[in-house]
Amino acid sequence: MTDSVLYDEDGSIALLTLNRPDKLNALDYATVDALAQHLDAIEDCADLRAVILTGKGRAFSAGADIAEFAGSMQRGVEPALKEFLKRGQALTARIESFGKPVIAAVNGMAFGGGCEVVEACAMAVASERALFGKPEIKLGITPTFGGTQRLPRLIGRKRALKMILTGDPITAADAAELGLVSDVVRHSQLLSHARNLAHRVVAWSPIAITACLRSVTRGVNVPIDEGLAIEASQFAVTVPTQDSREGIAAFLEKRAPRFRGV
Ligand code: COA
Repeated sequence: MTDSVLYDEDGSIALLTLNRPDKLNALDYATVDALAQHLDAIEDCADLRAVILTGKGRAFSAGADIAEFAGSMQRGVEPALKEFLKRGQALTARIESFGKPVIAAVNGMAFGGGCEVVEACAMAVASERALFGKPEIKLGITPTFGGTQRLPRLIGRKRALKMILTGDPITAADAAELGLVSDVVRHSQLLSHARNLAHRVVAWSPIAITACLRSVTRGVNVPIDEGLAIEASQFAVTVPTQDSREGIAAFLEKRAPRFRGV
């Protein structure tokens, strides 16, 4: 059986490629589970500092595997929630709260669960060929992998509801305008652009990177007073580190810092 997620390494960068191109990288349960397992392994490896997530073929992902989750839905509410929705929500929550930056390199269609994975990633860049959409309404269901929650927080309630209620896809340029991705690049340059972005991040202290990720991602979902308390606690993590001493010393001594992750 072919792996539905391909794994590659480029120095300190892990590359995960969704690999069901004949099914437009639809996220069946095995693929969701494989992605989660890869993230577990990457988290445990200190040498790996960032993750790029992309898709093989003409899609990033056309969303949850309809043929498969239809079976869960036919068996009733409990199986539909347990086998389908909770599995997908757990994956996007894992991506969102991952302690190393996960960068979506959106090569083509990102529909349904594919769009929700992009929403959950810390950063996202897109090929000019990318399209983003919420087609669940056409199936008579709601988005299920966090899309009713993250998309409005990212792009605003009315723009999110326009996508969710019409099912109409938007272009990469529109996604950048709305803030769903940060950069749109020529298709041939997508992966090199994502790698370059990853390298520009992993040059810094891994402790500070994780603290920034936690501060922003946890803080964005709570009232600002709580967010400021999260920021304080994450700054506190960086205060006693050798990396913060090194970063400040390097600035004062007018040299490049050498971060060691301690
Ligand atoms: N789940 C399962 N299979 C999917 C899929 C999905 N989400 N999206 C695409 N596929 C499969 C198709 O069934 C088809 O398989 P087949 O060749 O064995 O019949 C293959 O991928 C290619 O898709 P196809 O529909 O022929 O490509 P297209 O370019 O004409 O259309 C889409 C592309 C994305 C518009 C269309 O596939 C689509 O609407 N997919 C469903 C998107 C969706 O609703 N996602 C949210 C799910 S909650």
